[in-house]
Amino acid sequence: MRPGFACLSLIVAAVVPALAALHPAAAADAIKIGLIVPMTGGQASTGKQLANAVQLYVKQHGDTVAGRKIEVILRDDAANPDTTKRLAQELIVNDKVGIVAGFGITPTALAVAPLATQARIPEIVMLAGTSIITEKSPYIVRTSFTLAQSSTIIGDWAVKNGIRKVATLTTDYAPGNDALEFFRQHLTAGGGEIVDSVKVPLANPDFAPFLQRIRDAKPDALFVFVPGGQGGNFMKQFAERGLDKAGIRVIGPGDVMDDDLMPGMPDAALGAITAHMYSAVHPSDMNKAFVRDYKAAFGSRPGFVAVGGYDGMHLIYEALKKTGGNSDGDALVAAMKGMAWESPRGPISIDPETRDIIQNIYIRKVEKVDGELYNVELQTFEAVKDPAKTGK
Ligand code: PHB
Repeated sequence: MRPGFACLSLIVAAVVPALAALHPAAAADAIKIGLIVPMTGGQASTGKQLANAVQLYVKQHGDTVAGRKIEVILRDDAANPDTTKRLAQELIVNDKVGIVAGFGITPTALAVAPLATQARIPEIVMLAGTSIITEKSPYIVRTSFTLAQSSTIIGDWAVKNGIRKVATLTTDYAPGNDALEFFRQHLTAGGGEIVDSVKVPLANPDFAPFLQRIRDAKPDALFVFVPGGQGGNFMKQFAERGLDKAGIRVIGPGDVMDDDLMPGMPDAALGAITAHMYSAVHPSDMNKAFVRDYKAAFGSRPGFVAVGGYDGMHLIYEALKKTGGNSDGDALVAAMKGMAWESPRGPISIDPETRDIIQNIYIRKVEKVDGELYNVELQTFEAVKDPAKTGK
């Protein structure tokens, strides 16, 4: 070897450890994101949407941000919170993830909150929608929605549109209870009335017996909350029991009308009115490109679940840019607070006070577009904060 080369490699050998010592967090080591979602079981379609959206974001934006390589470690919790907790512990202790993300249902998001606090790492909630979640750790930041955001707005819409007598069907766990309570407050404040209510279990719900009862009772509308992934089965049973023919309208937060499942729904879904934060036919250039790219990559339509995952990755990437690649949990959460950007759903931001999402909520009606069922947006409520936190 010529003396010049030997000398150069000596210099490099001496300088690299010195730089790494000066900037430990900015060294070229990867930032690992533990993505915990339900890939199996009853909520599997939502886990797949989240995993797809994260993969699409990385494909489009590259796997290096602010000089740091991004490594996503996908884990399937089958929506079982005990499993979520164990997986999160393993990811934090053994894999040394710097961020945990995903969370298909509220109980799994809550299971990880104390771990995120203890490890001082961000927990990015990409789907779960109960208002209380963000209060359970100062490291939680949410990119999905709250049920209160949509249920208050559909409650007001119902009374303004002549709906007085409403039956309700909600899944019997925290987000279903939020949806029901916020809807009830707004419906009754406007003079409406809940005439019959049922709560169905989260796992393997059978809607049929209740639907029969509702058909005979003939309310003006049926308010429905089922979590993303269950709307297809619900609408099938709704049609089988002939509720559409009996003139009973479906209203609710938009979870029941998950775009991902709409191509398989019966025409009984036509005319359903829901309030929500994303429709695959949201008329923006950004959304058109998002839907095109998602369909090209995975062969299916993205729904609101996918958008929560896509924006969760955007939040992580932009926070890392702001910190210059520093992955310290406190620095990342500070960078995320107040961040604003355009999402496929429209303009969104992270409330710096609550770390919850502020976004437009749209009133949408199920119509056929080019022969397929879609949620066509009729009206926009801008920059809605979580009503549970503002008292509205
Ligand atoms: C939740 O468990 O918080 C949850 C899951 C799916 C939804 C909404 C809420 O569509």
